Amino acid sequence: MTKTSAIWASLPMPALLIGPEDTILDCNPAAETFLNLSTKALQDTPVWDRIAVNVSIEDAYARARRDETPLYINDVEAGGGERPPMVCNIQIAPLQGAPGHMILIISPRELASRANSGQTTKAAAKSAIGMSEMLAHEIKNPLAGITGAAQLLSMNLSKDDKELTDLIVDESRRIVKLLEQVEQFGNLRPPQRKPVNIHDLLDRTRKSAAVGFGAHMKLVEDYDPSLPLTYVDPDQLVQVLLNLLKNASQAADPSGGTIRIRTYYEHSLRMRRADGTGSKLPLQVEIIDDGPGLPPDLASSIFDPFVSGRENGTGLGLALVSKIINENDGWIAVDSVPGKTVFRLSLPVAPKELRTE
Ligand SMILES: Nc1ncnc2c1ncn2[C@@H]1O[C@H](COP(=O)(O)OP(=O)(O)OP(=O)(O)O)[C@@H](O)[C@H]1O
Ligand SMILES: [Mg+2]
Repeated sequence: MTKTSAIWASLPMPALLIGPEDTILDCNPAAETFLNLSTKALQDTPVWDRIAVNVSIEDAYARARRDETPLYINDVEAGGGERPPMVCNIQIAPLQGAPGHMILIISPRELASRANSGQTTKAAAKSAIGMSEMLAHEIKNPLAGITGAAQLLSMNLSKDDKELTDLIVDESRRIVKLLEQVEQFGNLRPPQRKPVNIHDLLDRTRKSAAVGFGAHMKLVEDYDPSLPLTYVDPDQLVQVLLNLLKNASQAADPSGGTIRIRTYYEHSLRMRRADGTGSKLPLQVEIIDDGPGLPPDLASSIFDPFVSGRENGTGLGLALVSKIINENDGWIAVDSVPGKTVFRLSLPVAPKELRTE
């Protein structure tokens, strides 16, 4: 890889190279992730067919092209193909030494946060994840080579030296495991949503927590049994609940603690999405623990990938939670003080025509 192509591939935000006819000539991995299409599929297609923005930028764009000046457009909703629009800043600049060619960079901004709800999820650093996935993939191959070489070397070594090659092999395996988790994170399948009783899912998770990682915890149910069915991917939601219960159990003192699982209905909660549509999220699920609370220095970024306050944590748990909840059209918020940490999921009600129970 040349230095230039490495820079292009490593840019953590989506970047596209546009030709004189306004077609896409090239794009980086982050752009592939953002638009959910491969470079091959994007190449030679008109750029404004691929990227939809909610404001008219033709004139400004034409001027930038004609005068070869950079163009900055802030706070537009940009999306493309399969992906719903999100609020972004867009930068367009002429490519030096290549008349008629422009570079277009999209910087997704944080999702707007919900009022009065403490910390809310950020747009889980989508581009950082795209880059990590690419890195994971790129690191695994040479690592396999390194492990193999260490194993070959170890055959002719003394016991002391063999300890060192064993160390290489063991540590490489650990890295591969971590990378596989990163890849798995990127390969989350699209949700298969159906009407489900949230209490069934909560019971499932509570039981597996009680016999496993949460055996030292007291789990208290505080359910509103009259809640209507919600509309989510049941397996994915169980994964979310497991991650939240697990974090609460891990944060607690080893001698134990209490987790309260509360469900209730809140009429007024609505979320405005980046694409302008609003949706009601009246079903609330709270996982409340009485542990030490979020580490203050991490509190604002716990939903970002690789942010962890635990020695052996990957920091992917809450990033996955936030990704799943977003994809299931829900919302997650957290409020934490020492002695009381509340993770709240806000979920939609199943559409009437699908409710059979
Ligand atoms: N209920 C909680 N109480 C206190 N701190 C929490 C709680 N939940 C999460 N945290 C903090 O947020 C961090 C990030 O959590 P996250 O689940 O994303 O990663 P992790 O638990 O460290 O690693 P992984 O889930 O990948 O094993 C945790 O390391 C912990 O410091
Ligand atoms: Mg975790």
